[in-house]
Amino acid sequence: MRILVTGGAGFIGSNFVHHLIDETEHSVTVLDKLTYAGNLASLDSLPAERFSFVRGDIGDASLVERLFGEHDAVVHYAAESHNDNSLDDPRPFLDTNIIGTFTLLEAARKTGVRFHHISTDEVYGDLELDDPGRFTENTPYNPSSPYSSTKAGSDLLVRAWVRSFGVKATISNCSNNYGPYQHVEKFIPRQITNVLRGERPKLYGTGENVRDWIHADDHSSAVLTILERGAIGETYLIGADGEKNNREVVELILTELDQPWDAYDLVTDRPGHDLRYAIDSSRLRTELGWTPRYSDFAAGLADTIAWYRSNEAWWAPQKDATEARYISQGR
Ligand code: NAD
Ligand code: DAU
Repeated sequence: MRILVTGGAGFIGSNFVHHLIDETEHSVTVLDKLTYAGNLASLDSLPAERFSFVRGDIGDASLVERLFGEHDAVVHYAAESHNDNSLDDPRPFLDTNIIGTFTLLEAARKTGVRFHHISTDEVYGDLELDDPGRFTENTPYNPSSPYSSTKAGSDLLVRAWVRSFGVKATISNCSNNYGPYQHVEKFIPRQITNVLRGERPKLYGTGENVRDWIHADDHSSAVLTILERGAIGETYLIGADGEKNNREVVELILTELDQPWDAYDLVTDRPGHDLRYAIDSSRLRTELGWTPRYSDFAAGLADTIAWYRSNEAWWAPQKDATEARYISQGR
């Protein structure tokens, strides 16, 4: 197959491109605008006979329609993805996550090309810390932030285009990813790179918020499974039973980097901060036979720490500007 990957220069998209090149014989085109979050260095050394890159905006209808016509399937990762940024300036989130997804759906409608939409568990809002339940495909939508509300809106557009126009689409909603190539604005890379630079990790609020961590390569294998075997029009939740509170994660990072386990600071909380996410991925496992490979979070985190230690040239150019922005927000 010829697969078009939108947002393939970002964190999860670039991990998916590497997964496709390493684990399949498909050829891949990345369409990416190269915003502050896109990094061509994440796509270095891919084989030219199977990989090409197009710089462009998913909101550019004529470019998108032409590219759809040249591919057998499209996997849509491109988004504005960071909650903190969406609280500062929501507009780009509407442009890319809503209008950009609409533009891709119109191209899917015109060309009939198979479309997979990447989304987030944040569309379901949050859970109490002591709630025994987890999110399922039937949990009602209840997003909290400008970011998650635009992702929820994009999911609903996909469902409407399937039902009204017969677009051949699937949707997946995944929990928090960790792994190589993640921008230093995000929690785990921010704390690893702080410690590597001799600075203290910064925990929002009390650090009790829980995220359900999955390695980006497991996210990639799940998406490939859905692309190959998912039922058109259906939604699949992706998660790897990786619930941890933020304090536990920071303590693991400090310990792995030979620092005192409590050498972190508590800083101003994120407004509207979701308390807990937790995914029940039974449907994907039982109906499509998917299982994650990374079952030990501490081991996967240690690999990720080793990656950031060995790849300072990849992250250092973004670090100062990212920290300056956080410091101006008291975080
Ligand atoms: P990211 O911010 O690292 O990467 C986003 C990529 O999209 C960048 O390369 C950027 O240049 C590109 N992009 C942004 N606007 C664009 C536009 N208008 N046209 C073309 N390209 C554009 O994001 P990520 O963390 O890799 O997330 C990728 C997708 O996965 C998003 O849809 C996000 O909602 C979803 N998701 C992320 C997580 C997570 O833990 N990070 C979890 C579940 C779902
Ligand atoms: O659940 C999936 C979502 O996970 C994706 O849809 C988003 O694109 C992705 O960014 C992520 O959202 P979060 O808001 O959960 O991720 P973030 O890395 O920003 O923060 C993770 C947790 O860590 C959250 O509880 C906030 C907290 N945090 C974050 C930063 C940057 C801190 O305590 N300190 C920090 O410095």
